[in-house]
Order: sequence, then C-alpha cells, then structure tokens
Amino acid sequence: MALFTWNNTYSVGISNIDKQHMSLFDSLNELHNAMLQGKAKEVTGTLIRNLLTYTRDHFSAEEAMLARASYPDLAKHRRRHADFTQQISGFLDRFEKGDSSINIDLVTVLRDWLANHILKEDFAYRSCVAQSGVR
Ligand SMILES: [Fe+2]
Ligand SMILES: [Fe+2]
Repeated sequence: MALFTWNNTYSVGISNIDKQHMSLFDSLNELHNAMLQGKAKEVTGTLIRNLLTYTRDHFSAEEAMLARASYPDLAKHRRRHADFTQQISGFLDRFEKGDSSINIDLVTVLRDWLANHILKEDFAYRSCVAQSGVR
C-alpha cells in the first residue's frame, strides 16, 4: 500500500508542478516499499539518490517559475528547498556509511516535510503565479 497518495488537496493548480509533486510522492513510496521489504542496501541507496535527483530537479524548475513570476518570497522559498535537499543528502551520507539507525523514520520525516511544504509554502505562491500568467 502506498504510504503517500497524491490527491487534489495537494494541487497547486499548475499542471507541470503537480506532475512533479506526484513523481516525488511516487519516488518516496518506492523507497518506503523497498525499506519495508528489506531490500538490499544498493537498491535502497539508489532509491534515496533518485529521490534526491527528482527533488533537486523539481526545486530548480519551481524556483525558475517563481523567478519568472517575480515571487516576492523566492529567497525564503529557496532556503527551504536548500534545507530539505541538505537533509536528504545528510541521510544519504549516513546511509552510505552504514548507519543502521537509518530506517523507515527517514521516509516518514521526508513525507511530513514534503506534505507540509506543498500545503504551506508551495500553496503560498499560487495566487502570485496565477496573476503573473507564468507557467
Ligand atoms: Fe517548493
Ligand atoms: Fe514544490
């Protein structure tokens, strides 16, 4: 069962951003399933790296859109993105060094962060982006 199901309550009303958010949810679910099934370290490591790549790609695309829309809180939004990518990188480093305390909590932390970020900080840019007509 999926840990994290995208539904319309997460929609920012911009279809390419919604699609990227869905991919992040998928990537997190895939990682969660691999951990639940006790998949090999290499498999789990690859999934954490994939999640980091998708996250970075999404954040760059979102920041570029916000720059085009002259979003006034872009600097703060960028910092939140940077904090999150640093957090995932930190988990990946620990994981690669064989830290056994990396477990299912990692996925829960990431899920809660991502959901909160979408529902609060991403939602905050909706009207600005809609008014600017930028996509
Ligand atoms: Fe964001
Ligand atoms: Fe986002």
